[in-house]
Amino acid sequence: MSKSARWDSKDESKHLPIYQHKHNLIQAVKNSTFLVVTGETGSGKTTQLPQYLHEAGFCKKGNIGITQPRRVAAITVAQRVAQEMQCTLGREVGYQVRFDDCTSQDTVVKYMTDGCLLREILADPGLSQYSVVILDEVHERSLNTDILLGLLKKLFSSPAKASKGRSRPLKVVVMSATLETDKLSAFLGNCPVFTIPGRTFPVTCMFGTAVGPKDTESTGYVKEVVKMALDVHSSEMFRACDLLFEKAEAIDYRYDVQDQTVEGLLILPLYGSMPTDQQRQIFQPPPPGIRKCVVATNIAATSLTINGIKYIIDSGFVKQLNHNSRVGMDILEVVPISKSEAQQRAGRAGRTSAGKCFRIYTKEFWEKCMPEYTVPEIQRTSLTAVVLTLKCLGIHDVIRFPYLDSPEERFILEALKQLFQFDAIDRRGRVTQLGELMVEFPLHPGLTRAVLKAASLSCQDMLLPVAAMLSVENIFIRPGHPDKQKEADKIHRALAAKSGGMNDFATLLTVFQLCKSSDRPSEWCRQNWIHWRALKSAFSVETQLREILLRLQQRDFPVETFDGNKGELFRQCLCTGYFTNVARRSVGKVFCTMDGHGSMVQIHPSSSLFDQEAELNWVIFHDVLVTSRVYIRTVCPIRYDWVKDLLPKLHEVDVYELSSVAREEVTDEEMMKWETREAAKRQPEVSAEDVM
Ligand code: CDP
Ligand code: MG
Repeated sequence: MSKSARWDSKDESKHLPIYQHKHNLIQAVKNSTFLVVTGETGSGKTTQLPQYLHEAGFCKKGNIGITQPRRVAAITVAQRVAQEMQCTLGREVGYQVRFDDCTSQDTVVKYMTDGCLLREILADPGLSQYSVVILDEVHERSLNTDILLGLLKKLFSSPAKASKGRSRPLKVVVMSATLETDKLSAFLGNCPVFTIPGRTFPVTCMFGTAVGPKDTESTGYVKEVVKMALDVHSSEMFRACDLLFEKAEAIDYRYDVQDQTVEGLLILPLYGSMPTDQQRQIFQPPPPGIRKCVVATNIAATSLTINGIKYIIDSGFVKQLNHNSRVGMDILEVVPISKSEAQQRAGRAGRTSAGKCFRIYTKEFWEKCMPEYTVPEIQRTSLTAVVLTLKCLGIHDVIRFPYLDSPEERFILEALKQLFQFDAIDRRGRVTQLGELMVEFPLHPGLTRAVLKAASLSCQDMLLPVAAMLSVENIFIRPGHPDKQKEADKIHRALAAKSGGMNDFATLLTVFQLCKSSDRPSEWCRQNWIHWRALKSAFSVETQLREILLRLQQRDFPVETFDGNKGELFRQCLCTGYFTNVARRSVGKVFCTMDGHGSMVQIHPSSSLFDQEAELNWVIFHDVLVTSRVYIRTVCPIRYDWVKDLLPKLHEVDVYELSSVAREEVTDEEMMKWETREAAKRQPEVSAEDVM
């Protein structure tokens, strides 16, 4: 990078709204333990405040840690700040996200995901290596950030803990783009609020006609957004609309958008798992005469500010992980956004000049279908992993933990129940030895349980790659063109057959192994319609999971023996973690889940078990896709024998009992009484014909 480019970004930062408040901000941080900082997005909070504190000497006695709910934000912001501070990324300024650590001994300003800081708290509850912790993007209300807020509040409720092992007290800054600051301040003991006055331009919002109140499950919204984008583009460029629409038809917007061009338009995708070199392009100005069109997920609403955006096209929808009570699992759903989210989206057009926002939905849709605010993640997703973390931190009463907004009690109970089912906690709600091991893995508890089982049987080489493959984005490419789609499907079926067929987990293992042992892995991927980038991350994730496992095996690690059929070992290990996701054939192609919800599900067409007429009575599955039907994905057949001792666990625990377990320590006597009662209730209600 040339020296002038470096100076440019440094100079630029002096024009940000936050710059005039530099001195006062530093003072405000010095003067109180908790500080809430608020200001419009793009005012410079995320990139500048850590630098100000660095200059003011906060790094002399510890590091500055800044959390982000999204990994892309953590990475790109760290890059930007490293550039402004004229240092190599990973030295003084670094980042850490799940499965990607770009920090070193020298790192003093560390951007990270909120999940990473939560893991650090597990190892060091007083966060002794930090002088300042900044929780950023708190308005997003991500699950981990909410938990961090509660933990930090709790930390300072016992001053001895908060000052343990440090010469200077820890400072906590909470940053938020929207107005809920009174609530935050009240939560943090009425701490001061620092407001950075914004500088925005008016944005004219226009409603469209494409999505009305009847279209809440719209699937056509992506096409509408593309159409609208081209409309905006063409009307300004005075080009024939027809030509553009024709071109739009040729764009397969789901794949490889970046390889496609429309005249005068540079199309850049922006999403969570995209590679870092592509992220950089987003912030660069387009070549002369070319318009930049960023196709973004929700990440561009507040986490990242792209300068010079004039038009926003708002689809009105978001893909969100929600707990679905119909199937009793978290699933990714497309849902209408909230009005506050729509306002954030529109606001992105008014950063550098007046702008316009085109909403593809009607005014009526806005009024009738869009809620005022987005429900915090803590109130709509599975709490299993965070409850285990809290328990491992010695927080026994997870119901009365200081939540900014409490989750419904039944969600907490559901989490406790799941942890009990995985043997991570005992009946008294105390963490077991297994639970202590499980918390170390940044994976879903069920998957972790299967990996640990495999490790105790010395066959982790089968499970670690599968866990890695399930932790990265989808590895199978499904091209848009029908002929190519057929070709890809055929190749994928052949890969499934190579693994013995009829087991999607084994297919993942086979793909992993074949690619890894290939001389030219990227070429192998190209030929087999596999995402090379996803596989590369899977290789790295596998190595990291292996390292975690090796570390745990130094401790007191369980060792078991297997006396069954070796060919069944793999699937039996999977059952240890997936017995919560068991389904049994009901009629025809329909299966019924065994978790107490009794949902009717079908095998997804992407599975190698789809259309199999063979005797498939019992299956386990990795996840669920809900459309007009409920589909199960990544499936494998099992034998009832393997889960028959596990299934009763799904019904064994009485949630009300667990509730009292969560609230207070129960005496041994009470426990015995209860266990006797429960034993009488146990119910393996399966007839002989079910046993395969
Ligand atoms: O956190 P806040 O929304 O207040 O602002 P910020 O993220 O610190 O952004 C300040 C400025 O830095 C904006 O003008 C961004 O466009 C710019 N920026 C950038 O050019 N490249 C990045 N990777 C991150 C921010
Ligand atoms: Mg920010």
